[in-house]
Parts: sequence; C-alpha cells; structure tokens
Amino acid sequence: MQQARISIRGGRPLSGTVSISGAKNAALPELAAVCLSADLVEFQNVPLVEDIKVMFAALGEIGARGEIRGNSINAALPAVKEALVSHEIAKTTRASVLLLGPLLARHGFAKVSFPGGCPIGERKINFHLQGLEAMGAEIVAQGEYIIAKCKRLRGIEYLFPAKTVTGTENLIMAASLAQGTTVLRNCALEPEVTDLVGLLRKMGADISGQDTDTIIIRGQATLHGAAHRIIPDRIEAGTYLIAGCFAGNEIDIQGVMPGHLRSLLAILDSMGAAMTVSGQSIRVKGQAALAPVEVTTEPYPGFPTDLQAQLTTLLTQAQGVSRVRERIFNDRFHHVGELNRLGAAIEVEHDTAVIRGPARLRGAVIKTTDLRASAALVLGGLQAAGETVIENSYQLFRGYESMPQKLQNLGADIKII
Ligand code: EPZ
Repeated sequence: MQQARISIRGGRPLSGTVSISGAKNAALPELAAVCLSADLVEFQNVPLVEDIKVMFAALGEIGARGEIRGNSINAALPAVKEALVSHEIAKTTRASVLLLGPLLARHGFAKVSFPGGCPIGERKINFHLQGLEAMGAEIVAQGEYIIAKCKRLRGIEYLFPAKTVTGTENLIMAASLAQGTTVLRNCALEPEVTDLVGLLRKMGADISGQDTDTIIIRGQATLHGAAHRIIPDRIEAGTYLIAGCFAGNEIDIQGVMPGHLRSLLAILDSMGAAMTVSGQSIRVKGQAALAPVEVTTEPYPGFPTDLQAQLTTLLTQAQGVSRVRERIFNDRFHHVGELNRLGAAIEVEHDTAVIRGPARLRGAVIKTTDLRASAALVLGGLQAAGETVIENSYQLFRGYESMPQKLQNLGADIKII
C-alpha cells in the first residue's frame, strides 16, 4: 500500500451516484473514547480507511479487544495492558494524540509518541498539553515520547488560545472522567466534535453546550458502553461535490448532511455551479464557465482547510483569477507545484494561492505528500488530457474509502498500479 501508485486517464465525463462514507475525523476520536470505559462500544458507518485501521491497532496495543467487520467496529478496553502509543503508530496519523487524554483519565498514565501525520506545517499540540497540565497532569517530554501522569484529573476552567479540533476533543474526553466540573471555552465547533459529544453522552458522560464554543463537562467516576452510528464525512462529500462541478460531469452525491457543507455550497453557488440539494443528497452538474472566487480557510463553520486543495484544482478551470488564502496551517500548498506540472497556472504569495484560469491540464507523473493534496491531484488527473500517474498515493487511502472504485463507478478511467 505504501508504494501504491494511481493511474488516471482524464477527460472522461463523470455521471451516476456516489455514496458518502462515515466521517474519518469523527471515527478517530470516537475510537479513542473506547479507552474511557471497560465496556463494549459498537460503531456503525465506520469508513474503512488506513487511519482508522491504525487507530484500531493502537487500541489493540493498549489492551483493547474487538473486531472490524465491514463498516462496523466493536471494541472494549476491559483493562489497560500498556498505556503506550508507539512511534510506529503516531508517525502514520497525528490523530493518535487523541489517545493521550482518555488514557490519562482512565489509567492515570500515558506514554504517547509525538504525532506525525500530514506534513502540512506546524502541527503543535501545546494547547492539548497546557489543558491537561491545568487539570493536574504532570507532563514531560522523553525523546520522541510524551509522558503524562496524574492520579486523578480535576475539573478546570480553560480557554483555548486558538481553535483546535483534536485539542477540544482531547480535553472533553479527559474531563469526562475528571473530579468535578470542567468549562472549556473557545472550543472548536466542527460537526465531528459534536458527534463525539453525542457518543460520550451515550456512554454516560455529563456534557452540555455542544455546538457552542463553551462546553461544560461534569466528570463521572466511570463511563459505560454504547452503540453509535458515525456521521457522514463532509470532507469526502465536499470532494465529490467539487468533482461534479467540472464541465461535462453530472453526479448524485448520497448520504450527505448538507448542513455541514454550507460554506462550500455558498462558494460553489457564487461560482455558478448548478446544484440541487434534496434531503441527504446533492445533485451537481458541471458548468463550462465557472466564475473565479476569493476564499479564506477558517475554523468551522467557515470554509474548511481540508477542502482548500480540492477547490484549488477546480479554480484552475474558472474564467479568471482566483485567490485562496490558507489561514489554518502554515504549509498546505504542496499540491500547487504538482498541479502546475499538469499545466495549471498557480502562484503562492505568502499564505495565498493565486490561480489563473482556465488552464488546459495535461497528464504527467506527479506525487502527493498529504491526504487532501492527494485528492486534489486526483481531481486534476480526472480533468487532464492523457495519463496522470500519482505516486505515494498511500496518502489517499488514509482518508478516502474506496475512492478509485467510487470514481470508476462514476465512469472515470482510474486504477491502482
Ligand atoms: C483536525 O486536525 C483534523 N484532523 C484535520 O484534518 C483538520 O485539517 C484540522 O482539524 C483543522 O480543521 C482530525 O480531526 C483527526 P487543529 P488538528 O488542532 O486537530 C494549531 C485531514 O485531512 N495548533 O485544529 O490536528 C495547529 O498547528 C486532517 O483529515 C496549535 O498551535 O488541527 C494548526 O495550525 C488534516 N497548538 C491549527 O492550530 C495546538 O495545541 C489548527 O489545528 C493545536 C493546534
């Protein structure tokens, strides 16, 4: 899988229906939440992607038992065997840092390797650690590991210095078993945070304020098992929605929560995309003359950084100059150089990509470095004339379930080589 390459022969129209899988970024913290209880937690609608398999393996190393059956996972951690998240695990997905809070809260000790994951710039976890220290944890760095200890975490008032999705999730989970009440302010508002709170409440956690930026958690002595269906993946849905906007395509995206895609829908609408939202599905028909836009990535409900690269590919076809400003991460333009190798005309000025369209794209051998850049390059290959080969496409399989198959079903000429 690591050396997998993808070959795409572009220029073929996409048509038909695509079903959206469960949200990777909800499933990851929710798997970590298994550590908060000794009981069985059962998940439905889990996306079978590499990052999920890695998180499941991490749970096994800690001492959890369970199984993955299709898109269902059940897991239980009756007792902690070893409160360790190895470097092997952490270097693949940054989400492994989500085990720190739950392990510390359940077991009073955690040894977690510094997170790896996408090379999209500074990926600090100082807010996670500050919050846990404020809750009474003693945290030291030992080589590539974080060692955290605390007999029993205690409730605190904590203001996040800036919005952090996994930071919010880590502290909510830690506070669920802490002594007393925790008030977290300036929390991330992503739907995946809300879905995690939904699971924790089913497990017996006492949490209020979800969907707002102030979340109150009254710690419990223990949590119990639960069953939970994971929300649809808004980033996967947004990726296919963008794919449908290229001229000549007409696709039906099913199993979507349109309310989670408002910022993207507004931007595509302003570009002149032809979309029809009905219930849990969105129909989109590509347009030849799309208008350019100016977009800035922001924390939810603003335009998501995880769709920035994919939108940039579409903007190579807009009639004019677009500007995409990346305000969440400081190095998330790796897709630009590769898109330019396909014939795009994009320049990066500080934190902004300036995209001159329309540009005729032609196939080439390109490489990807991170999950969402790989999706952007697939969209580029689908648009480019001739063959595009994408190297290091393991990244794609980290976060998109069966993307080559889903695109083949829509008529794309794409295969793993
Ligand atoms: C989550 O990452 C997502 N991952 C990312 O998706 C997503 O891009 C990101 O949120 C922003 O929406 C998961 O949910 C597993 P952050 P996370 O903490 O939590 C800085 C994907 O493609 N920061 O919200 O790691 C940080 O450096 C992935 O699915 C600190 O300075 O992101 C970044 O610049 C990629 N100190 C910004 O905040 C901290 O303690 C946002 O980071 C934490 C974060």
